[in-house]
Amino acid sequence: MAKKLNLEILLLPVFLVLLISSKPYMASASIEEANALLNWKASFANQTQSRLPSWNLLSHKPSTTSPCTWFGIFCNSAGSVIKINITSFGLNGTLQEFSFSSFPNLKYVDLYMNSLFGTIPSQIASLPKLIYLDLSTNHFSGEIPPEIGLLTNLQVLYLFENQLNGSIPHELGRLRSLYDLVLFSNQLHGPIPTSLGNLNNLTYLYLSNNSLSGSIPLELGNLTNLLELCIEINKLTGPIPTTLGNLNKLTWLIASQNNLSGPIPHEIVNLISLTYLWLWQNQLSGHIPKELENLISLTHLLLNQNQLSGFIPKELGNLISLTELRLSQNQLSGFIPEELGNLVSLTSLELWQNQLTGSVPSSFENDMLLKKDIYKS
Ligand SMILES: *[C@@H]1O[C@H](CO)[C@@H](O)[C@H](O)[C@H]1NC(C)=O
Ligand SMILES: *[C@@H]1O[C@H](CO)[C@@H](O)[C@H](O)[C@H]1NC(C)=O
Ligand SMILES: *[C@@H]1O[C@H](CO)[C@@H](O)[C@H](O)[C@H]1NC(C)=O
Ligand SMILES: *[C@@H]1O[C@H](CO)[C@@H](O)[C@H](O)[C@H]1NC(C)=O
Ligand SMILES: *[C@@H]1O[C@H](CO)[C@@H](O)[C@H](O)[C@H]1NC(C)=O
Ligand SMILES: *[C@@H]1O[C@H](CO)[C@@H](O)[C@H](O)[C@H]1NC(C)=O
Ligand SMILES: *[C@@H]1O[C@H](CO)[C@@H](O)[C@H](O)[C@H]1NC(C)=O
Ligand SMILES: *[C@@H]1O[C@H](CO)[C@@H](O)[C@H](O)[C@H]1NC(C)=O
Repeated sequence: MAKKLNLEILLLPVFLVLLISSKPYMASASIEEANALLNWKASFANQTQSRLPSWNLLSHKPSTTSPCTWFGIFCNSAGSVIKINITSFGLNGTLQEFSFSSFPNLKYVDLYMNSLFGTIPSQIASLPKLIYLDLSTNHFSGEIPPEIGLLTNLQVLYLFENQLNGSIPHELGRLRSLYDLVLFSNQLHGPIPTSLGNLNNLTYLYLSNNSLSGSIPLELGNLTNLLELCIEINKLTGPIPTTLGNLNKLTWLIASQNNLSGPIPHEIVNLISLTYLWLWQNQLSGHIPKELENLISLTHLLLNQNQLSGFIPKELGNLISLTELRLSQNQLSGFIPEELGNLVSLTSLELWQNQLTGSVPSSFENDMLLKKDIYKS
């Protein structure tokens, strides 16, 4: 009996400590998060701070303040912030005063469409649980911090429509959980890192409208879950890799307005899910593969402004889903195949500036809906 009592007396302080510490611990975590958010808000341009009136300490009882009810803030059941979502709010400020290390449970950061500027701090890597990062349509500048490669749970990375420069860090190839990588309309230069070929789960890769140079990495052919590959409006050179023929789920292959050369690789005809094939304004040469007829889902076939030669394959007449066919400004010769007349969904046909002879298919002659530029002068 005496022994048991002793044990209880011994354990009592431990029990009390546990009892006392558990609640205040949670509160202090959320107070730290609340203060971190308030410090960040205080760094915004004054006129935009007023847009977040709910971001406020209760002056009468600051120790009970939780940010979980604030606009754009979402918490887990323990009262810790898991999502910050303030889109299209005109916020004008930077991320320099954002205390990343104060948010150990943050999973989603969505700051799309504000007026945020300055660099993306490398401290962003101290958000170990981050799965969603959208900083797009802001004024962020400087380089993409290579430390983003440490955010290995990241599934979505949207940095489009900023003024980011420097090259794409090869460390992004460590983000093996990524589904969407969207970097278009920045000022990125240098090559497309071969390491992006490691991102097996990638479904959307948008690198358009930058100044990327070098050739398209063969390794992109490993991205067998890719649905959309958009690399147009860059300074890419060299051939279209034959490995892209492995991307059998691809629906969009958009590589126009680059300086790609060599033939349209025959392997492209394996991409049976393609709806958009845009290769216009490059230096592509050789023939148009007649096997493109396999791509029965194609709606847009844009091969204009290249150096393609030979005949227009009559097999293109089997691409019955086509709404837009542009072959203008090439060196195509021979007759315009009558089979093109089978393309009943066509709304735009451009064949001008080639060395073609013959006339437009008879079925098109009276088609008032079809915009035709066959022999533009
Ligand atoms: C943001 O605020 C600064 C002043 O702090 C101002 O100079 C700048 O024009 C603002 N930017 C926008 C896009 O409103
Ligand atoms: C906001 O206004 C206060 C006082 O008017 C000023 O001290 C502070 O520097 C301003 N903050 C910003 C970020 O412009
Ligand atoms: C953020 O909110 C916007 C607007 O309510 C919504 O469209 C968007 O999906 C949200 N983002 C996230 C990551 O929840
Ligand atoms: C990148 O942008 C930053 C900030 O705007 C600028 O200081 C730097 O010179 C730019 N670097 C390059 C290589 O353009
Ligand atoms: C890739 O996607 C599959 C299916 O959604 C998922 O089970 C797997 O965990 C993902 N891989 C990574 C590295 O996230
Ligand atoms: C390309 O990006 C620039 C800004 O860098 C933007 O002004 C322009 O509209 C974009 N062009 C296209 C076609 O999206
Ligand atoms: C990725 O592609 C490259 C080049 O096409 C190839 O050599 C390599 O073995 C591939 N890697 C994997 C993991 O499939
Ligand atoms: C495009 O590539 C060709 C060689 O294939 C080269 O002669 C030309 O200068 C390049 N043009 C541009 C704008 O880079």
